[in-house]
Amino acid sequence: MLNKMKLWKSQKDKTEFDEKFHEVLKHRIPNHIAIIMDGNGRWAKKRALPRIAGHHEGMKVVRKITRMANSLGVKTLTLYAFSTENWKRPKLEVDYLMKLPEEFLGTFLPELIEENVKVTMMGYEDKLPAHTANAIKKAMKETEHNDGLILNFALNYGSRFEIIEAVKDVLNDVSNGIIDKNQLNEETFSNYLMTKDLSDPDLLIRTSGEIRLSNFMLWQLAYTEFWFTPVLWPDFQEEHLLEAIETYQGRSRRFGGIQSEELE
Ligand code: FPP
Repeated sequence: MLNKMKLWKSQKDKTEFDEKFHEVLKHRIPNHIAIIMDGNGRWAKKRALPRIAGHHEGMKVVRKITRMANSLGVKTLTLYAFSTENWKRPKLEVDYLMKLPEEFLGTFLPELIEENVKVTMMGYEDKLPAHTANAIKKAMKETEHNDGLILNFALNYGSRFEIIEAVKDVLNDVSNGIIDKNQLNEETFSNYLMTKDLSDPDLLIRTSGEIRLSNFMLWQLAYTEFWFTPVLWPDFQEEHLLEAIETYQGRSRRFGGIQSEELE
């Protein structure tokens, strides 16, 4: 099933990929992978194409990586598709980016439904054009009972704003007596964030060689393993996802503690 759409340069490549895929499956698969999909513009520039051509190619990669994450048994895939800062881009580019969810879901929603994928969104929906918000809402409605991979689009999302809004909601609830100030801790605060129904990411991937978070999930990434790659998002392949997961599997996560064998 996994390889049905992939074109292989040689049988050797396919065999190597299959071996790696099965090896990765033997170890801990990250529950939640978050990806900062970067480098679309540079990919286009290298080919003397307009930036939007890079975004279009990037959209195709979203499909590939969603299928791959699903095949591996990843529970949640969060994709940073548009930040609260991205409105500063030229209107033509913003308009194009706002059309991509429609195009993507218009083409792939039946496949997502068939594959038991549940579409969700985090971000400020009110500022999205109606056509974008409606496409996402329709997909969310049609996949709400699916219990396979959660495909979570971060769209018009900004982490600092999310945290400030959460603080305002907490203050309101405290002043209305809904919660007591002393009940506030990491767990209760997490319930005020847009990710309240999701686990924190186990693995963060950022493509294109940039080593920064760009206002993405600042609270949720506190203990996440990071994997950066120079590969531009439109060039990102299933093999790269396997490589990221393999690296993650080789790391020991201590969450501020020490390894159990070190205690002996
Ligand atoms: C950053 O690359 C990328 C974005 C701002 C948009 C990401 C969107 C997609 C990959 C497609 C989303 C698809 C769906 C289905 C919503 P950049 O433009 O900043 O690249 P650059 O740094 O090389 O200029």
